[in-house]
Amino acid sequence: MLDTLNRPLHDLRISVTDRCNFRCRYCMPRESFEKNHPFLPHAELLTFEEIVRLAKIFHTLGVRKIRLTGGEPLLRKDIEILVKMLASALPDVDLAMTTNGSLLAGKAQALKNAGLHRITISLDALDDEIFRAITDVDYSVEGVLNSIRAAEEAGLTPIKINTVVKRGVNEGQILPLARYFRGTGHILRFIEFMDVGSTNHWESVDVVPAREIIATIQREFPLEPLDPNYRGEVANRWRYVDGQGEIGLIASVTQPFCGDCTRIRLSAVGELFTCLFAGEGQDVRALLRGGGADAEITAFIHSLWNRREDRYSELRQEKKQSHPNKVEMSYIGG
Ligand code: GTP
Ligand code: 5AD
Ligand code: SF4
Ligand code: SF4
Repeated sequence: MLDTLNRPLHDLRISVTDRCNFRCRYCMPRESFEKNHPFLPHAELLTFEEIVRLAKIFHTLGVRKIRLTGGEPLLRKDIEILVKMLASALPDVDLAMTTNGSLLAGKAQALKNAGLHRITISLDALDDEIFRAITDVDYSVEGVLNSIRAAEEAGLTPIKINTVVKRGVNEGQILPLARYFRGTGHILRFIEFMDVGSTNHWESVDVVPAREIIATIQREFPLEPLDPNYRGEVANRWRYVDGQGEIGLIASVTQPFCGDCTRIRLSAVGELFTCLFAGEGQDVRALLRGGGADAEITAFIHSLWNRREDRYSELRQEKKQSHPNKVEMSYIGG
C-alpha cells in the first residue's frame, strides 16, 4: 500500500489521551491549556478494544511499529492493560511508548511485564531551574532521572531521551546532557523546535539547527556519522569516536525527512492524521461504532493512504506553506 509519493505505511502512533500533567512552553503553554480547556471527555475516547481492533487492521496493511503517545500516555488509566492486549494480539510489532517520565518509576516493570519493548523519555534540561521554566510545573529533574533508572532496571532498553532545543532557553544544556548520558547506553536525541500546533509561538529564530548542536558537542567530544538503522529513521545518528555510545539529531526543520515518512497518527477519539502538521483528521470511530466491518475500515484506511500527499516540513522549507489551524501535538501525539 503506497501513498501518492510512493511511501508505504509502516508506523502507527496512537495517542491515548490529550491530557498531560506538564505544561511545556513549546507544547501546551499554560495560557492556552488552562483548566477550562476543552479536553476530550472520557466517554469519547476509543476503548482499548477499539484501539486493538484498529491496530490489527493496520497490521494487515503493513504496520510493524506502534508507539503509544499522548499527551502523557501514563495518565490513561490501566494503560498497561492496553500494552498487554496489543503485545499479545500483535507479537511481531515493535511496541514503544513516549512519556515525560513523571509517572514512570512505579510503572516501568509492569509495562515491561505487559510486553512493552522500548521507551522514550523527554528531558530538556539537567538544571532544575531551566527544566521548570520549560515544563512549567513543580516537578524535578531527579524525578525523571529516577524514571530512567527504573526503565533501565526493567529492561525497557535501549532507552531514548528526547531533548527539544529552543534558542535562548536550553542551548546551554546540550553539553551537560551529552556528558551525563555518554556511556550509559541510553540514546540522547536532540529535536529542533517545531511549528506544531498554533499555540506555541514558534518562530524560525528560535530553532537551533541540528548542525549547530553537533558542532557544540564536537568541541568537547569528537563524533562521526552512523548509517540509519532503517529507511526513514527520523533521527540522524552520530557516534562518539571514543566508543561511549551514540546520539541522534531530529532536524525536522532544517533537514526535513518527509520523503521517507511512513507514519500515521490515531487520535484518542479515533481520528486518523497522515501528517503531524495536519489541520484535521479523518474519523474512523464513526465506522467502528456504526457497526462497520473490518473490510470496510480497511478500505477506508487504504483509500486515505492512497490519497496521501503530505510533506509539510519540506513545503515549509520551500517557504510554500503556512497554515494556521494545525492540530496540537498534545492531541495527536509526538
Ligand atoms: P524509534 O522507533 O525509536 O526510531 O522512534 P522514532 O525515531 O520514531 O522517534 P520518536 O517516535 O521518539 O520521535 C521523536 C520525535 O521526532 C517526535 O517526538 C517528534 O518530535 C519528531 N517526529 C517524529 N515523527 C515525526 C514526523 O513524522 N514528522 C516530524 N516533523 N517530526 C516527527
Ligand atoms: N517541537 C519539537 N518537539 C516537540 N515535542 C513536543 N512539542 C514539540 C515541538 N514544538 C516533543 C516532546 C516529546 C515528543 C513527544 O515531542 O518534547 O519529546
Ligand atoms: Fe506534556 Fe510532552 Fe507536551 Fe510536555 S511535550 S506538555 S510532557 S505532552
Ligand atoms: Fe511526515 Fe508530515 Fe512530518 Fe513530513 S511533516 S515527516 S509528512 S509527519
